[in-house]
Amino acid sequence: MIQEAYDTADPTDLENRFFNASFSMTEERLDYLTLLDFVERLAIVCETVDGFPIGLARYGMRDDGNVEIAVVVQPEWRHRGVAALVLQDVIDAAVQNGHTTIVGECLATNLGACALMARLGFTQTAASDGVVAFSKTFDTEC
Ligand SMILES: CC(C)(COP(=O)(O)OP(=O)(O)OC[C@H]1O[C@@H](n2cnc3c(N)ncnc32)[C@H](O)[C@@H]1OP(=O)(O)O)[C@@H](O)C(=O)NCCC(=O)NCCS
Repeated sequence: MIQEAYDTADPTDLENRFFNASFSMTEERLDYLTLLDFVERLAIVCETVDGFPIGLARYGMRDDGNVEIAVVVQPEWRHRGVAALVLQDVIDAAVQNGHTTIVGECLATNLGACALMARLGFTQTAASDGVVAFSKTFDTEC
């Protein structure tokens, strides 16, 4: 299902998601996206009532110990709050799993994604080579 979604995806969406205009799915990459331990790597799919997947958000642990979030929504389902909903669920899961610093990156040209991160309370921490970095820190003691 994931392979098919990427095979038929719009090239601009792939660039926005993977920062690579000539992105192609490899077996190794597919393993990374689908082998989840639900603590260091987790994904949540948003489906219609009849089971059609319309959005997917995930987090994965980076080498620096922070978790990085990412999201994609089917084009015909955008601008209805799906990304905000599924990303918030992923953020909540990350915090419940004890992750205190959550980060995300967007292409600077991806204004919708940058606005989404700001709406979710993330602060811009850096911008270089056309990529904007966002971060939000949570207090898991509460
Ligand atoms: C970026 C992306 C995930 C946004 O998905 P989305 O579901 O459209 O996002 P949301 O609906 O939560 O928010 C988008 C807009 O819809 C608006 N919106 C939210 N709920 C709404 C509703 N019920 N009715 C109308 N508009 C609504 C939001 O205010 C927001 O407006 P803005 O873009 O003008 O600021 C999507 O465009 C995408 O998949 N892009 C390709 C991959 C990508 O860029 N991923 C991000 C980097 S990892």
